[in-house]
Amino acid sequence: MAALHLLLLWLLGALFVHQCHGACAEVDSDTEAVAGRGFKLGCISCKRRSEVPGSATVEWYFRAKGEADFVHIYTYNEDGPIIENEQFTDRVDWNGSKRSNDIQDASIYLLNVTFNDSGTYRCFFNRVLFYEKYEYTTIVSKVVHLSVVAKATRGMASIVSEVMMYVSIIGLQVWLLIEMIYCYRKIAAAGEEALREAANAEYLAIASESKDNCAGVQVGE
Ligand SMILES: *[C@@H]1O[C@H](CO)[C@@H](O)[C@H](O)[C@H]1NC(C)=O
Ligand SMILES: *[C@@H]1O[C@H](CO)[C@@H](O)[C@H](O)[C@H]1NC(C)=O
Ligand SMILES: *[C@@H]1O[C@H](CO)[C@@H](O)[C@H](O)[C@H]1NC(C)=O
Repeated sequence: MAALHLLLLWLLGALFVHQCHGACAEVDSDTEAVAGRGFKLGCISCKRRSEVPGSATVEWYFRAKGEADFVHIYTYNEDGPIIENEQFTDRVDWNGSKRSNDIQDASIYLLNVTFNDSGTYRCFFNRVLFYEKYEYTTIVSKVVHLSVVAKATRGMASIVSEVMMYVSIIGLQVWLLIEMIYCYRKIAAAGEEALREAANAEYLAIASESKDNCAGVQVGE
């Protein structure tokens, strides 16, 4: 029994670890940076054969808006990061896979973005897969078109949802008001009715009382 439990635990653990390592999704980079802030240039290339050991080096190229050619701006290999272009000196941090040569995430982080950083970025993975008897080299590249804006623009979806929120709040209040007026009038009508009834009852009581009184008087005489 204990052995079975142990086996189950081990299976669960294996599954979990496998998922942790196997979770690679090629999410596209954001494409709008705000001037003066930082920005993460995303670049992910998942290994096609996750079970095969691999190793990759990364290069980033940049073509400024209006320019014809790409320039080499950044390298990341077993020696670490190297910034290759003075426009980016001290302004690029590695945001990709850590503590591994088997790089699948080659994202970099731009500090203090300027309008001059607008343009096209291209990342290259030079990847080697180590099969038992041979090595297989691939080159994968991805493109990010970056625009730099003065202030973050809001997505249409967020504007629409805010408008919908106000519409529903106002709608609810109007409905509440109508309901209140309706109830008030109903209560007022019911109150008048009750008053009238009470008055009638009182009149009858007084009438019958005076009749009794009259009877008393008659008896008294
Ligand atoms: C990317 O790098 C920047 C600057 O070093 C850091 O502030 C940020 O937390 C990093 N983000 C990720 C996801 O590693
Ligand atoms: C960003 O720019 C400001 C002003 O130019 C400077 O004070 C700051 O140190 C810069 N930050 C980085 C991370 O380069
Ligand atoms: C942007 O580029 C222009 C023209 O090359 C240069 O004069 C200017 O100083 C640059 N601005 C920044 C913030 O690097």
